[in-house]
Amino acid sequence: MAYEDVGSTAIRAVDVHKRFKNKTALDGFSLTVAAGTVCSVLGPNGAGKTTAVRILSTLLRADAGQASVAGYDVRTDPRRARYRIGLVGQNTSVDEILTGRQNLTLFGKLYHLPTPAARRRAGELLERFDLTEAADQPVAEYSGGMRRRLDLATSLILAPPVLFLDEPTTGLDHRARIDVWTSIRSLVGTGTTVLLTTQYLEEADQLADRIAVIDAGRVVAEGTPDELKAKVGPDRVETVTRKPTLDEVFLHLTGHAAAQKTEQRTEPTP
Ligand SMILES: Nc1ncnc2c1ncn2[C@@H]1O[C@H](COP(=O)(O)OP(=O)(O)O)[C@@H](O)[C@H]1O
Ligand SMILES: [Mg+2]
Repeated sequence: MAYEDVGSTAIRAVDVHKRFKNKTALDGFSLTVAAGTVCSVLGPNGAGKTTAVRILSTLLRADAGQASVAGYDVRTDPRRARYRIGLVGQNTSVDEILTGRQNLTLFGKLYHLPTPAARRRAGELLERFDLTEAADQPVAEYSGGMRRRLDLATSLILAPPVLFLDEPTTGLDHRARIDVWTSIRSLVGTGTTVLLTTQYLEEADQLADRIAVIDAGRVVAEGTPDELKAKVGPDRVETVTRKPTLDEVFLHLTGHAAAQKTEQRTEPTP
């Protein structure tokens, strides 16, 4: 499927504010993502990542500021914006009892594809996400990584030009995480713009063209992974003989470690 030209800027947020009662979730969040690139919004739990994704994907209204997706203002033109957006949230959206193929065909019909087209699209996506072998098994028998890949597939039925992935690998083991990374990489080659939130510095480093480090509701640093590493000069780290890691960059930019606020992680506690 061909992608609609969304101009050079696929996602833009300017000085977005959002408060929940007495809690400030976004405090001047600004971000620009060029079409066809992967941007990772990297930050600890509670930083405002999901709030930003919900506002950009028209699910939540900002208190102040401006946001647009594919050139459409999410406040004044939410229907046109929404039509161009795929979203994979933190929770799965597939039905356990149905097979992978049935889930994808059902989503296709919900999006008003005629049945043969929905079946064809399901087959293509199962292949693209390496689920052909398991296609006719109920999702209840799928591993966590397979479910995540099926979630990704459902969000791509209409080939949206802009895709939001909110913590796509949180809760997955290392092996499954690498499989999901492979799937995300294969998407990017097709011209989709991806905004991916993560708490994992390694994930942002692996997948993103640019990283926006978010802390307390605002972007505190932005650049390519290498630019961010370069911001922390050799005097900032103990050894001058090696490049700083992204963990050190995060600590330097925010004054606290990324792993500090992980109490809400979805991994089962042992
Ligand atoms: N519906 C809500 N009601 C009250 N507080 C909220 C709500 N959603 C988010 N928050 C608060 O806003 C802040 C940012 O949350 P969130 O965007 O979910 O962060 P992240 O996705 O980075 O973990 C947190 O302090 C969170 O507790
Ligand atoms: Mg979140």
